[in-house]
Amino acid sequence: MIPQGEQGSADEGRPNLPDSSLGADRPLPLSVRSLTVSYDRKAVLWNVDLDVFAGRIVGVVGPNGAGKTTLIKAIMGLLPLQSGTILINGKPLKKQPGAIGYVPQRESVDWDFPVTVHDVVMMGTYGTLGLFRRPGRKQREICRRSLDQVHMSSYAHRQISNLSGGQQQRVFLARALAQEADLYLMDEPFAGVDAATEAAIIELLRTQRDTGRTILVIHHDLQSVADYFDDVLLLNRHVVAYGPVGDVFTVENLRTTYGGKLAVLPEHANGET
Ligand SMILES: Nc1ncnc2c1ncn2[C@@H]1O[C@H](COP(=O)(O)OP(=O)(O)OP(=O)(O)O)[C@@H](O)[C@H]1O
Ligand SMILES: [Mg+2]
Repeated sequence: MIPQGEQGSADEGRPNLPDSSLGADRPLPLSVRSLTVSYDRKAVLWNVDLDVFAGRIVGVVGPNGAGKTTLIKAIMGLLPLQSGTILINGKPLKKQPGAIGYVPQRESVDWDFPVTVHDVVMMGTYGTLGLFRRPGRKQREICRRSLDQVHMSSYAHRQISNLSGGQQQRVFLARALAQEADLYLMDEPFAGVDAATEAAIIELLRTQRDTGRTILVIHHDLQSVADYFDDVLLLNRHVVAYGPVGDVFTVENLRTTYGGKLAVLPEHANGET
């Protein structure tokens, strides 16, 4: 049996920090302090503290309605914060637009919008442009490379509405890659994609991670958590536990996160099953 994680890793709201990380002398890619977010004055995220280290793939796991998308939207500056602070590379996002590459949850995108694959990916490069500058050769090259990385080059001139769900997801991944950001936030990138695409995406994320980039991935498949992620954030309106997968992805923490709703325990969770 695999030993249970360290005591204290499940402490509410207190991040369990990994010992080793790339670029320890740099500011953290993401630092969240005492974050509370409300919709219509009803708090959906309470007092979230989170320090994310460079060169990590972090899984964000929790039941439907846990506030996972809300957390990512708050980090993206898309929602008003009731309280708390969010720093990207030690600074507010407002001072560095384009610092985050974002892949939204599939259902939240209007796929009928008349735009080509090429145009969607070019949008990702706008952060690399000066004010009022038009995309040029450099941006076209970034766009070409990004589409190539997700094996969608031959679809560049297709309308986004005419693609399959998995292909659309790849295009949004390419758009995020084209941003050449240090921090990526991905809302269920594996939803509705086939096993081969999922394997290709995780491989791509690992390559990005190995160059020091940091990736937060909202994920529902508990069976693949231990394989895919370096760290895991268990979220249910507040931080249930956060830290290296081996410490935090325990049966006990999963029970706390999902309550009675967890029917099947993942094979790779540590502790009693
Ligand atoms: N625009 C909104 N206005 C009011 N309430 C909202 C809004 N968006 C989300 N909520 C509520 O906030 C809570 C958290 O929603 P959120 O979308 O962050 O959950 P989630 O963890 O991403 O869930 P899922 O796994 O289903 O995507 C839910 O109760 C949801 O109903
Ligand atoms: Mg969501």
